[in-house]
Amino acid sequence: MATTDLGGTFTMAEGVTVTRMGYGAMQLAGPGVFGPPKDRDEAIAVLREVVELGITHIDTSDFYGPFVTNELIREALSPYPEDLVIVTKVGARRDDAGNWHHARTPDEIRSAVHDNLDHLGLDVLDIVNLRFGGFAQAEPESLEEQFVALAELQQLGLIRHLGVSTVNAEQIAEAQSIAPVVCVQNFYNLAHRTDDELIASLHAQGIGYVPYFPLGGFTPLQSEALHEVAARIGEPSMTVAIAWLLQRSPNILLIPGTSTRIHLRENVAGATLTLSEDDVTLLDSITPAGD
Ligand SMILES: NC(=O)c1ccc[n+]([C@@H]2O[C@H](COP(=O)([O-])OP(=O)(O)OC[C@H]3O[C@@H](n4cnc5c(N)ncnc54)[C@H](OP(=O)(O)O)[C@@H]3O)[C@@H](O)[C@H]2O)c1
Repeated sequence: MATTDLGGTFTMAEGVTVTRMGYGAMQLAGPGVFGPPKDRDEAIAVLREVVELGITHIDTSDFYGPFVTNELIREALSPYPEDLVIVTKVGARRDDAGNWHHARTPDEIRSAVHDNLDHLGLDVLDIVNLRFGGFAQAEPESLEEQFVALAELQQLGLIRHLGVSTVNAEQIAEAQSIAPVVCVQNFYNLAHRTDDELIASLHAQGIGYVPYFPLGGFTPLQSEALHEVAARIGEPSMTVAIAWLLQRSPNILLIPGTSTRIHLRENVAGATLTLSEDDVTLLDSITPAGD
C-alpha cells in the first residue's frame, strides 16, 4: 500500500525510531474497552493495514479487554516486522465486570510484564509505560517503588525501554532518577492543553510525548473552530485535529485509536495535511476544556 508521509520519524532511544503517526489499539476491544471486538475480522484488518501503511508504533495494554487487544495484535501481526515498536503499559487491572483498578504493587507490576510478554508472544517488550495517576490526570504521589520494579525487569532483559503515563513533571524527574524515560503518555488534545509547558520541556530533553485521547477519547472533539477549519479546507475534523497535533511540536507522537479502516485512513491523512498559520491561530484559540 502506498505511504508517503507519516509525519516523519522520531527516535525515542538508540535503535528505537518510530513513525510520528502511530496507532492506539484500545478501541479494538469491545464496548467500554471490555470483552471481544464488535467486529473481529475488521479489528484484524485494521491492525494489518496499520503495518501495511508503514506505521511502526502501536500502543496497547493487557488491560484493554482485558488481554483482547494484545491477543489480536499477536494474531494479526506475529511474527512482527523488525521495525515495529509495540508499547504496552502496566499499573491497572480489570475485574469481571470491567471495572478498572490499580495494580501497582511490585508483584503486580512484575506479573503484568510477564503477562504482556505471553499475550504478545514476545521475549522482550520494546517499551513499557508505568500507568500512574487517576482516570486522566496525574495525582501527586511517589512512583519510586513501581518504577524501580520496572527498572529491575529492564535490567533482567525483559524490557528494552521505559516510559511513564498520566504523570506530572516531578514524577517524570523522579522516574528519571531511577532509569531513563523515553516517552511520556498523557491526556492532551486541541481542547485539553494542560501539558503545553511539559511538552516543551520534554522536547528539549529529546523525550517523546504521546497524547492519549488525541481525538477526544470517549468524548469526541467538538469545536466550532475545528469544524470551521475542516470545512474551509475540505477535510474531516479528526484529520485536522491530527494535523494540528503533528504541527504542535516535533516530539509529539500520535496513537489515535479506531476500530475501523475508514477512520484509520482519515487519521493517517492528517500526516499529509499542512495547516496554514491562520488555521493554526484559529485552532489555538479553542478554549481548553477544564484546564
Ligand atoms: N495511558 C493511558 O492512560 C491511556 C488512556 C487512554 C488511551 N490510551 C491510548 O491512547 C490511544 C488513543 O486514545 P483513544 O483511542 O482512547 O481516543 P482517541 O484516539 O482520542 O479517540 C478514539 C475515538 O474516536 C473515534 N475515531 C477515531 N478516528 C476517527 C475519525 N477519523 N473520525 C471519527 N471518529 C474517529 C473512535 O471510534 P471508531 O472506533 O469508530 O473509529 C473512538 O471512539 C488508545 O487507543 C490507547 O492506546 C492510553
